[in-house]
Amino acid sequence: MYAITGITGKVGGAVARTLLAAGQPVRAVVRDAARARSWAEHGCEVVTADMDDETSLTAAFEGAQGVFILPPSDFDPSPGFPEARAVIDAVRGALQSATPGKVVCLSTIGAQATEINLLTQRTLMEQALQDLPMPVTFLRPGWFMENAAWDVAPARDAGVIPSFLQPLDKAVPMVATADVGRVAAQLLQQTWRGVRVVELEGPQRVSPNDLAEAFAQVLGRPVRAEVVLRETWGELFRSQGTTDPLPRMRMLDGFNEGFIAFEGDEADIVKGEVELETVLRGLVLQSSRQAD
Ligand SMILES: NC(=O)c1ccc[n+]([C@@H]2O[C@H](COP(=O)([O-])OP(=O)(O)OC[C@H]3O[C@@H](n4cnc5c(N)ncnc54)[C@H](OP(=O)(O)O)[C@@H]3O)[C@@H](O)[C@H]2O)c1
Repeated sequence: MYAITGITGKVGGAVARTLLAAGQPVRAVVRDAARARSWAEHGCEVVTADMDDETSLTAAFEGAQGVFILPPSDFDPSPGFPEARAVIDAVRGALQSATPGKVVCLSTIGAQATEINLLTQRTLMEQALQDLPMPVTFLRPGWFMENAAWDVAPARDAGVIPSFLQPLDKAVPMVATADVGRVAAQLLQQTWRGVRVVELEGPQRVSPNDLAEAFAQVLGRPVRAEVVLRETWGELFRSQGTTDPLPRMRMLDGFNEGFIAFEGDEADIVKGEVELETVLRGLVLQSSRQAD
């Protein structure tokens, strides 16, 4: 049986769907049992656990042949990343106590970077899970194509997508969450020894100009990308409720300056199958359904 955290989200859901389609038993690890009803209907065992609660996580991981760890996103971490560290301590303690057969942990492109930025939260997770007694895989996907959900309204209504990624013609490794989940499920079913890192991107790298062009195709109207000047980021993020905009700004700097990038050889990067336009069609449909 495979214990899947984050199952009510995009990646965890795709992991579980892939495992169920392969006839594998799945334990849905959720923080709110009410949100797991559809997974129970699909035959999953359901357990409740919070990602920063070692006791409930230990029970959730016990008896599992494999565990998928999805660290919760935190776009506005406190200095020193105490929130991420609480999750890391709980996850590490639970894995040590429950000793599942193997672990696949979702990490990120650029987890090896030494510059402090938003993704340092995953650097810390990778460091903490290095010396566990069971085989561990860190899956490092590129930028999620689904981040373009924020761009649907401005693309549709104004024909402009504001871009923090710059310059506008610089292609960035991006990947669909469906591919991330599918690959994570495949990795979970493999046998390996020790710690391994798997880097993953989509079929093509995507520049902001490519993203605008793909939106234009999907929406049937002209769309262009527009640079959001870096000197405006801090004030903008604060106006959106961020207490400390710096970690997110440094992450964006990392993509733009190149210190957030894949670490391994180009030939070893796993390629996803889902095209950008497929993801954008889904996001546009979802947005119009929400508006109805
Ligand atoms: N966005 C990117 O470009 C990118 C790139 C590389 C890696 N990543 C990584 O991808 C992950 C996000 O994946 P996603 O897009 O699938 O996220 P998502 O759709 O937002 O789903 C998040 C999941 O985590 C669960 N969760 C959140 N906080 C929790 C907590 N305290 N205890 C238990 N469960 C909790 C949520 O449960 P509820 O349903 O209860 O809320 C939900 O199932 C993050 O680890 C992020 O670092 C993102």
